[in-house]
Amino acid sequence: MSGGRSVLFSAAADSYELAVRELRGEFGRDVRIKRVGAELGRVDGVPVGELAAACDVGRIMFVRHLTREVAGYPLDELPTESELATTLLEEFSARTVAVQTWIDGAGTGGSYRRLIAGALESRGVAVERSGQDVVVSGAVAGKQLLIGVNRLADSLSDWPGGQMRLARGEERVSRSEFKLEEAIATFGLDLPNGGNALDLGASPGGWTRILRLHGQEVWSVDPGALDPRLRGDRRIHHEATTAGRFFAANRVTFDVVVNDMRMDQVTSARMMLDAAAHLHRGGLAIVTLKGGGKNPLDGARRGLQVLNDQYDVLHARQLHHNRNEITAIARSSH
Ligand SMILES: C[S@@+](CC[C@H](N)C(=O)[O-])C[C@H]1O[C@@H](n2cnc3c(N)ncnc32)[C@H](O)[C@@H]1O
Repeated sequence: MSGGRSVLFSAAADSYELAVRELRGEFGRDVRIKRVGAELGRVDGVPVGELAAACDVGRIMFVRHLTREVAGYPLDELPTESELATTLLEEFSARTVAVQTWIDGAGTGGSYRRLIAGALESRGVAVERSGQDVVVSGAVAGKQLLIGVNRLADSLSDWPGGQMRLARGEERVSRSEFKLEEAIATFGLDLPNGGNALDLGASPGGWTRILRLHGQEVWSVDPGALDPRLRGDRRIHHEATTAGRFFAANRVTFDVVVNDMRMDQVTSARMMLDAAAHLHRGGLAIVTLKGGGKNPLDGARRGLQVLNDQYDVLHARQLHHNRNEITAIARSSH
């Protein structure tokens, strides 16, 4: 796959400027960045692999998807399938690729997906929606169709523009469930089968439900109630108290601790230092650091600094289902 040119990056519309601040902090104030849509920007002169690496480890938190820009067309002058195929086939040699399209700030771009998929299939390339090493992206921004080609490994997410869509079944206990599911899928987290998990700020129990689906016995700490549907499960222990009181009164140790408590980033991270004493060395932590205040970037950075005291932070990112917050993934280092 050829390198160079521009990289298109996606960020939540409200967080776009934070993503730009982070990009300039990482790659220099002079790096050329242009906003091309509500949720889409273009950065020049930075190799996509370097960008992906900075995002992967959480030095850049507010970028959620990357693709290398290879072409752009006005919507009223779209290429023929044959022209598009010729352009795309210069970029990769894979015989099966994923094709993902989206409309900036809106939904999927079905008709553009048909154009790109048709072009590739006409040259014998098989097309899937995900799960391939090479991803061809089509993003409609303003009056343009922007085409990207990228390795999945450098894309940050295997969803169009990083917008993971999850089914809203009746079994869902809360919208927060999506955040945990997305974090587990995006970062490929392995929860130890039969492990003990501590869920801080558990009410009404969405994260507890997801942890159970991943084979955990769960201690659900929250003064608030759990959804009645969780009551019959003997592997759920509702501790109707605050996290501080729970730690003071319990010696149980855990393989996993998750924290979705409603409090500012630093307070929440400090609570995780208390949790570290109850976590096995190398145990997994999943924490939402909630926006609050006018400066979610600096707040999140301060929260991560606190976490560093007892954890190795592996990832930190504003996922699609995060609102004014980021999700951090860490392992206990003590
Ligand atoms: C966003 S909700 C959690 C939703 C939950 N993760 C789910 O999926 O259903 C935040 C919760 O944090 C809880 N909370 C806030 N401060 C807390 C504390 N000190 N200890 C325990 N829970 C706390 C609140 O009671 C509230 O239920």
